[in-house]
Amino acid sequence: MKAIQLTGYKGFESMQLFEVEKPKPAANEVLLEVKAAGVNFAELELTKGRYRIPKEPPFIMGFEAAGVVVELGARVKNLKVGDRITSLVSTGGYAEFATADATVAIPIPEGISFNEAATIPVQGLSAYALLKLAAKPQASETLLVQSAAGGVGLYLVQLARIMGVRRLIALASSKEKLDVLTGLGADVAINYTTKQWTDQVREATEGKGVDVILESASGEVGDQSFKLLAPFGRIVVFGARNIHDTISPEKVQQLIYKNQSVREPSRHWRAAVRSARSFWQPSAVRFSRRGTLSPPLANWP
Ligand SMILES: NC(=O)c1ccc[n+]([C@@H]2O[C@H](COP(=O)([O-])OP(=O)(O)OC[C@H]3O[C@@H](n4cnc5c(N)ncnc54)[C@H](OP(=O)(O)O)[C@@H]3O)[C@@H](O)[C@H]2O)c1
Repeated sequence: MKAIQLTGYKGFESMQLFEVEKPKPAANEVLLEVKAAGVNFAELELTKGRYRIPKEPPFIMGFEAAGVVVELGARVKNLKVGDRITSLVSTGGYAEFATADATVAIPIPEGISFNEAATIPVQGLSAYALLKLAAKPQASETLLVQSAAGGVGLYLVQLARIMGVRRLIALASSKEKLDVLTGLGADVAINYTTKQWTDQVREATEGKGVDVILESASGEVGDQSFKLLAPFGRIVVFGARNIHDTISPEKVQQLIYKNQSVREPSRHWRAAVRSARSFWQPSAVRFSRRGTLSPPLANWP
């Protein structure tokens, strides 16, 4: 089969097409004919050696894929050949075939394309896990989403809106992105590349600061956002760039004096995926014709 392997850490030029052996599913796995594969921020960082290296190159790129089951491992009972699924994959999604653990594979609801479904395992489930398991925003709270027009951000905005928060603030870098975000339900969409963006956030929170911040921007925007956290607020850190961050004594002092906390997404990723799977069952979630999420979300807690 054909597959794109990472051969080093020079960015895109280290991604090359090879003819490799088709993988064999283990007893708990299925073999998937890949129709669409997700391209994630962390994978782009990985091509430059800036993300956790899963193994020494060369290896097939791609954390997730959507496609059709073409072979079952000996112990698989919950899926059959011909099923349309989307899943985290064990052998790399940038390939004609990939293997996936059958217990974390998600059947694709009718009406959802392979392209749309390929955004669910990493970006969709991350957004779900970040909100449900880590941030746990209350209806009375304000929520700030950075990089809100990215893959995870678009899910976060839509899910947070459905979940219900008092004020949903979204950050992005252009007018087009801000328009998309308000169209998806953000109460306030702010261009963080302007000088006065932090004043706009303070204004949107009546000077109180933000109760919950979803932090993936790192750098200057990350530092500025930290200062916008309200007393008793929490900041959930989840970006590939954040893994290189350090926390300064000033930030620790702020956390102590303002009774704030820093959270990370659940380390128990498989448990999070299993918890989230029910959310994506056909009756639970709807993608509208525009590819957006809409209620009813039967399993949303
Ligand atoms: N912890 C987890 O389990 C987990 C899982 C999935 C994703 N993540 C993290 O979530 C974040 C978003 O991932 P994603 O897949 O949604 O990414 P994405 O679709 O590529 O979107 C990233 C967004 O970040 C902003 N950005 C700022 N600087 C950028 C740069 N130098 N290059 C590219 N984009 C830049 C862009 O928005 P603006 O133009 O508006 O700035 C862009 O829309 C990443 O940090 C990723 O590592 C974490």
